[in-house]
Amino acid sequence: MAAGANLNLILFGPPGSGKGTQAERLREKRGLRHLSTGDLLREAVAQGTELGKQVKSILASGQLVSDDIILALMRDEIAKVGDGWLLDGFPRTVGQAKGLDAQLDELGQKIGAIVVLNARREAVIERLSGRRTCTQCRTVFHVKINPPKVDGICDRCGGTLVQREDDKPATIEKRLDVYEAQTQPILAHYRGKVSIYEVNGELPVDEVTRFIERVLQ
Ligand code: AP5
Ligand code: MG
Repeated sequence: MAAGANLNLILFGPPGSGKGTQAERLREKRGLRHLSTGDLLREAVAQGTELGKQVKSILASGQLVSDDIILALMRDEIAKVGDGWLLDGFPRTVGQAKGLDAQLDELGQKIGAIVVLNARREAVIERLSGRRTCTQCRTVFHVKINPPKVDGICDRCGGTLVQREDDKPATIEKRLDVYEAQTQPILAHYRGKVSIYEVNGELPVDEVTRFIERVLQ
C-alpha cells in the first residue's frame, strides 16, 4: 500500500487497545495529523466551551456523544488538514461512518487503510485502570507497564499526569459494551471497500508499531 505522508488512516479498536499510543508514534514517524475525537472533546470540557458543557456528563458516563455533534466537529477538522490524517476514535457508529464517507466524497478524499488493534476485555481493563495521561502534551503512560521516570510527571514535557475520569472500573465496562454494540459493526460497513489490517494489540508497544509499519509499506 502507498505509504507517503498523504496517507489517510483510521486506527480502530476497543477502549484501551492502544489507539492513542500508536497514533502518536505514527504522527511522529510519518508526519500524519492525529485527529482524536476523544482528545478534542476532553479539550472542550477542560476549556469549558459550549461543546464541553454539552458533552461533559456523556464522556463521564462512557456513552457516546451524538452523531450530529461529532460529524459537525470532524467536518471542520478534516477539511482543515487535507490529506494525511490519522483518525483515532472516529467513526464510532455506522451513522458516523456514513457521514464521513459523504464528506470524503465531497472533498475528493479516500480512506487509505483501517488498522484494527485487537485486544481482549481483560487486557484493556488492566491497561485502562493504570493509565495516566499528560495534561499538556497528551502522552500516555501506564503505572506498571510503561511508568514515567518520575511519578506523576510527564517524561516528555514535564507536564502533570492525571487519570481520566472515564477510567473507573464501571465506566470502562460500559465503554467496552458500547464499543461491541455500536462501534464494531463499522468493520462490516467497510469490509470489501477499504483495506482492513488486523493487528494483535496485546503485543508490546514496539511490536505493534513494527507490525503497523510493515502493513503500511
Ligand atoms: P476516546 O478518547 O476515543 O477513548 P477510547 O476509545 O475509549 O479509547 P482510549 O483512549 O481509552 O484507549 P486507546 O485505544 O487510545 O489506548 P491508549 O493508547 O490510551 O473516547 C472517550 C469518550 O469520548 C467516549 O467514551 C465517548 O463518550 C466520547 N467520544 C469520543 N469519540 C467519539 C465519537 N466518535 N462518537 C461519540 N462519542 C465519542 O492505551 C491505553 C493504556 O494501555 C495506556 O496506559 C498505555 O500506556 C497502555 N498501552 C497501550 N498500548 C500498549 C501495549 N501494546 N502493551 C501494553 N500497554 C499498552
Ligand atoms: Mg485514546
